[in-house]
Amino acid sequence: RSRISVLRREAVIATVPVAVAALLGAAGPTAAGTTGAAGAGDPYFPLSGNGGYHVRHYGLTLRYDTSSRHLDGTAVLSARATQRLTRFDLDLKGLTVGGVTVEGTRAAFRRTGQELVVTPRRTLRAGQDFRVTVTYHGIPKPVTDPDGSADGWIPTDDGAFVANEPQGAMTWFPANAHPKDKSSYDITITVPQGRTAVAGGVLLGQHTAHGLTTFRWRETQPMAAYLATATVGKFQVQQYTTRDGIRVYNAVDAREARAAAPVLKKLPSVLEWESRLFGPYPFRSAGAIVDHAPDVGYALETQTRPVYDSAPDISTLVHESAHQWFGDSVSLTAWKDIWLNEGFATYAEWLYAEQHGGDSAQKTFDALYARPAGNHLWAFPPGDPGSGKNIFDTPVYARGAMTLHELRRAVGDRDFFRILRAWATAHRGGHGTTAQFERLAEQISGKRLDGLFQTWLFTKGKPDSA
Ligand code: ARG
Ligand code: ZN
Repeated sequence: RSRISVLRREAVIATVPVAVAALLGAAGPTAAGTTGAAGAGDPYFPLSGNGGYHVRHYGLTLRYDTSSRHLDGTAVLSARATQRLTRFDLDLKGLTVGGVTVEGTRAAFRRTGQELVVTPRRTLRAGQDFRVTVTYHGIPKPVTDPDGSADGWIPTDDGAFVANEPQGAMTWFPANAHPKDKSSYDITITVPQGRTAVAGGVLLGQHTAHGLTTFRWRETQPMAAYLATATVGKFQVQQYTTRDGIRVYNAVDAREARAAAPVLKKLPSVLEWESRLFGPYPFRSAGAIVDHAPDVGYALETQTRPVYDSAPDISTLVHESAHQWFGDSVSLTAWKDIWLNEGFATYAEWLYAEQHGGDSAQKTFDALYARPAGNHLWAFPPGDPGSGKNIFDTPVYARGAMTLHELRRAVGDRDFFRILRAWATAHRGGHGTTAQFERLAEQISGKRLDGLFQTWLFTKGKPDSA
């Protein structure tokens, strides 16, 4: 054991500076430090996101031909340099880039792996606002994640299922694609008449001419690139405003309509119930995209309007809705903190069952805790999944939720629900880390909780006492 850890330590010492240096390029604030880093510094997805600038707004104008599967795009990024920049990267995988301009002036660019490297004619000053325009086209292909799942632009028989977690944004638009960077979005998408293109936020307008329909979507609240969508299909559309003034837009594939209807009817009451627990709904619009995409195998909490690969059950609806608070409004700064998304959304499912005539959270916890030490549930601790391969695995979801249940038992219901609400409120529209959550829980409860979190989030194997 000690031999392995010694070797490990040596390996870490030997490789980390090299890897970090490679990632940063010459991006440190040194003499040569004027090129933006190729990645946001996330060890699980080293090339996701970029350094040196923040994107304030994405203006995407897309046209998708559902028969040839060809995508034409123009992306206008309004950004701010966070350092002097002679060069910077965007994430973009596949597709052909027609041209890049920075501040209206043609810029040099080069493609390398998933990076689009842009060299503007004039160096950007630290703090400078600038605009980048990228024209591109081609047949988008999904990216395969370390766990073997696919994400990004996933073609379906009548359009495309578009879900970007964790790294699929780069398959359909050039982006600073790490949840550290959040932006507002305008997405305009043109599809053949009879198809519907759905993104997050509010539908500003829809217009049909010459056999093509254009949909204009706007999300003004800060959004991570992995939460953007532009899902296309033959959908039945339903629109209404809830009594809280939330604008709902549901798009449902006819093949899923019958199964989806009774669950979708509950969306307003689910959002109201979650608002009572977690604080006001963080966005102004809501809804669901229920696609028929049998090969996908998951749903995603795309901001304001989750996308489902088939008709969801009530648990899944509760789960993706809870992510609007936990994940979408309060975002990760690193993928290793993924339990802050998945553990919370899973615990919301347990709470919903408990308060709607189903099993108590305690009963759900007990059934999981009964699994033997060799069960996959205990394969790794949720606060430290170890690699991008594990971020959507059972220990993150189930043991993540168990951690919250243990917290609830330690601090009592009153403080527990105060903690959840304070977390969603204090970090609304921004970011949160595991360390910040622990501190908040200790502050509100006045208890020392380091042992609890250490055991449940960070210690390998099945925890001793339940
Ligand atoms: N965040 C989604 C959910 O649990 C899961 C996304 C899975 N993504 C993937 N590429 N496998 O609601
Ligand atoms: Zn989830």
